[in-house]
Amino acid sequence: MIDFDFSNVFRSGVVSRADFESQEGKLDSFLKQIDARNQGFYRVIDDEEMVTDIEAFSKSVKGKYDDIVVCGIGGSALGTITLRDAFANFFEKSKVGLHVLENIDPVFLSEALEALNLKRTLFLVISKSGGTPETLAQYFFFRQHLDKAGLVAKDHLVFITGEKGLLREVADQDGIPTFSVPEDVGGRFSVLTPVGLLPAALVGLDIRALLQGARSMRDAFLSVDFEENKPFQLAVLQWLCSEKGYSNNVLMPYVMKLRTFAGWFAQLLAESTGKFNSKGKSVGLTPIASLGVTDQHSQLQLFAEGPKDKLVLFLQVEKFSYDMEIPVLVESDKTRFLKGVSFQNLLHAENKATAESLTEGGRPNLMISLDTLSLENMGGLFLLFEGATAFLGEFLDINTFDQPGVERSKVLTRESLSECRL
Ligand code: PA5
Repeated sequence: MIDFDFSNVFRSGVVSRADFESQEGKLDSFLKQIDARNQGFYRVIDDEEMVTDIEAFSKSVKGKYDDIVVCGIGGSALGTITLRDAFANFFEKSKVGLHVLENIDPVFLSEALEALNLKRTLFLVISKSGGTPETLAQYFFFRQHLDKAGLVAKDHLVFITGEKGLLREVADQDGIPTFSVPEDVGGRFSVLTPVGLLPAALVGLDIRALLQGARSMRDAFLSVDFEENKPFQLAVLQWLCSEKGYSNNVLMPYVMKLRTFAGWFAQLLAESTGKFNSKGKSVGLTPIASLGVTDQHSQLQLFAEGPKDKLVLFLQVEKFSYDMEIPVLVESDKTRFLKGVSFQNLLHAENKATAESLTEGGRPNLMISLDTLSLENMGGLFLLFEGATAFLGEFLDINTFDQPGVERSKVLTRESLSECRL
């Protein structure tokens, strides 16, 4: 279950409840506008054939690999990182390791190669376009080493890609198993397609639970009832705050395992909303990834006394899967407040106190609470933010689903490469 408490936005004085409720009339037309954009991120989660194919493949390779390595970047990497970090034990060397190589730093790649036993490694090359240079470069690097080691490519590679592009051609030629990224699902919205689901299934996560949670939030996202439509309500607050100058969105989970979820959110918000609107004006909300309690000792000073331009979105888990009492080993006035307190109690108290101090300072913040960190709730969170981002696009009068701004850098990269060949 996912609960919401938006009251601190109103208490901060930045947005009134009346302003918030006055947006209700836009819900119906925005839903129609989103429908007309023909996006599949909230439809693909019903694709039973996709799920059975993923499960069948995962079952067929069970026990064959010690390491799963994702070659991919942006939307082809961040969802998997989130899922791995949310559900893996940080310290346990699990039977199957999941590594996401979202960079082309040569030191990083050569260290990865050195650490891997290629005979027991499966590389998932993930690129919707099938032509992203960083991902192709990673693929060529590892393919060369697989070939050199005399390993059969189709036993160590899986491609997750669109219907066209170079990867599709190589797959057809070399018989490499392939999963499809649906044409109507954009990279940063693709975590609940084979892009995020296959790596998750390969390390044993219950992808059906994830999809079930996503479906209940999807129902809320498509609801014309303002009360029920939490993605719309969230977008209303993000938009109204930005209109008042609070256009930076801090996502601050008070859950270690959700640290990288803030990275997924950052890409979604930045690449979706940073655009020229239909009148040619630059618009966008700036994401800031943060972590409670860690960043109370790093960024909080800025949030509390710096420019009044941030909406803080807190994310908490009500009941951690494990908790223990803090053993107060030194009795003194300085430690008495910790007596009989558990780590979870302390974490929640600090979260509440941080939220209250921001509110007192006239700084808007809101709370999203998960009862537990479950796969169902994780699926719900993905859909919550994807849905809110789709609505934000309508408020901002942009195309949420493209990313023309990154094209120029790609062209310049190609040009500059012609001057610096080895
Ligand atoms: O959201 C997006 O579309 C991008 O961030 C892409 O995910 C990223 O550029 C990688 O693209 P591709 O999957 O085509 O390699």
